[in-house]
Amino acid sequence: MAKKQELVRVSRDEIKDFSGDLIVFCAVAREKKAPLCDARLKKILYPAWKSGDFKGRDKDMLLIYPSLLGKTDLAGLAARRLMVIGLGREEDEPDAIREQLRIAGGHIAARARSCGAEEVLVVLPDIGGLSTSAKTEAMVEGLVLGNYSFDKYKTSKNKDTNQPVQSFLLTGNGSAAAMRRGVKPAVRAALAACRARDMANEPGNVWTPEKFAQYGRKLARKYPLKCRVIGKATMEKLGMGGILAVNQGSARPAKLVVLEYRSGKKNPTLLLVGKGLTFDSGGISLKPAAGMEDMKYDMCGGAAVMAAMEVIGQEEPNHINVIALVPATENMGGASALKPGDIITHYGGKTSEVVNTDAEGRLILADALAWGIETYAPDAVIDLATLTGAVIIGLGHHRTGLLSTSDDLVHQVEQAGNKTGEPFWRLPLGKEYSKQLESKVADLKNVGGRPAGTITAAAYLQEFIGDTPWAHWDIAGTAWDFTEKSYVPKGPSGIGVRSLAALVRDWKPFARNVKK
Ligand code: BES
Ligand code: MN
Ligand code: ZN
Repeated sequence: MAKKQELVRVSRDEIKDFSGDLIVFCAVAREKKAPLCDARLKKILYPAWKSGDFKGRDKDMLLIYPSLLGKTDLAGLAARRLMVIGLGREEDEPDAIREQLRIAGGHIAARARSCGAEEVLVVLPDIGGLSTSAKTEAMVEGLVLGNYSFDKYKTSKNKDTNQPVQSFLLTGNGSAAAMRRGVKPAVRAALAACRARDMANEPGNVWTPEKFAQYGRKLARKYPLKCRVIGKATMEKLGMGGILAVNQGSARPAKLVVLEYRSGKKNPTLLLVGKGLTFDSGGISLKPAAGMEDMKYDMCGGAAVMAAMEVIGQEEPNHINVIALVPATENMGGASALKPGDIITHYGGKTSEVVNTDAEGRLILADALAWGIETYAPDAVIDLATLTGAVIIGLGHHRTGLLSTSDDLVHQVEQAGNKTGEPFWRLPLGKEYSKQLESKVADLKNVGGRPAGTITAAAYLQEFIGDTPWAHWDIAGTAWDFTEKSYVPKGPSGIGVRSLAALVRDWKPFARNVKK
């Protein structure tokens, strides 16, 4: 058994002395010229380029056995293999360089796994446009995210024989201290995203509302976070009619998990709310059978919020307070299930006519938003939810839908998304859309018809946020089947975790200036 060690470390040893399974260099593609790379590789790469085998494009890869290198500059390497990986063309936008390095990191992890490498040394490329720590951060994110797999339910004979890489070492021309500064935040955020993927990969019979509660309590034991779990009895006292209504048809009791991180009374408070629907059958408005199994992923908003709190608990930022709420329940069609036509009363007293029990996310989020805003008076609130199929029609699997009452908040969210490779696209809100939710018998109905389904879902939530700056992330298209990338596996992507971490790290207070 290999000894337990950190997943990613900075190495100051000579490349020649590294005796592990694989050393990786990067090369940048150039117009009609051999790829740009470490000077010691020039002679080796030239024939590969000349013969058209290696152009340095993204995905290009060259595997070399050091014992065959003869009298080149890299003669005498102790490592078992040498790999050169293409970065693609030179990029000049910092966010584009970050993405390029993450993608390279993802490819490296995949190739390392496929040759069974346990210990891998990555030589950070000498490309400009980003500091050493930022380059390291992006590369390490790609390595860790790309190294992910979930095989706990496969018995040993069915497990992939290529197990994850045990140890990544980083080296390069930048200072070791700067590289270390990049490693830490990258490993934290990427491992947290992997935890969110784990939660999502767990089936609905395992990852239940109670599991969210247990996870919250566990985080509070480990980090300076406070956890409170609100159960059904308290929900009834508080009048959380939305969560209770959705939970009616399920045998598993609903939970509202609260995690609090506080750094100081004078600091701004950010409230995060994540949809924790552990299985969405649609309820009495039953979904079609085909693909229904994917509805175990309907808790990805809650998973992202929990995982982001894990990062915050580790980093203990001193400039912000963060409160996380995860309303968690199944949406099932049991004998006492919510029915179309039922009228419910949300926390705070607003009534809603439930036209379609499959539009359940907004019902549980409405209570959580209203209660969270009243309880914590946050300076801003963000909710993450796999809320509408319509967002997939509109934006595909490439961008998270963003709907907001605050341009300042949108600006910060978009920056965080671009920085982390989790892009957003803003959709409008407005009274025309809100009007689609008018009910004949209640204050509101829960469905506004087919047109603009993503916007009317957000318009429903907007009824519960008062004048608090608010952003809604509809992650239905990005929480799984996210844009195919080397560092994003098939299945749940962990979307939102790294955006939230970046947003909190870079948080700039702003004045309340909300468009009504
Ligand atoms: N969880 C679903 C949204 C969803 C659908 C996410 C497909 C990912 C893939 C949500 O609860 C839902 O069922 N929304 C309905 C709303 C409709 C009834 C107004 C939808 O989008 O069809
Ligand atoms: Mn639904
Ligand atoms: Zn749902």
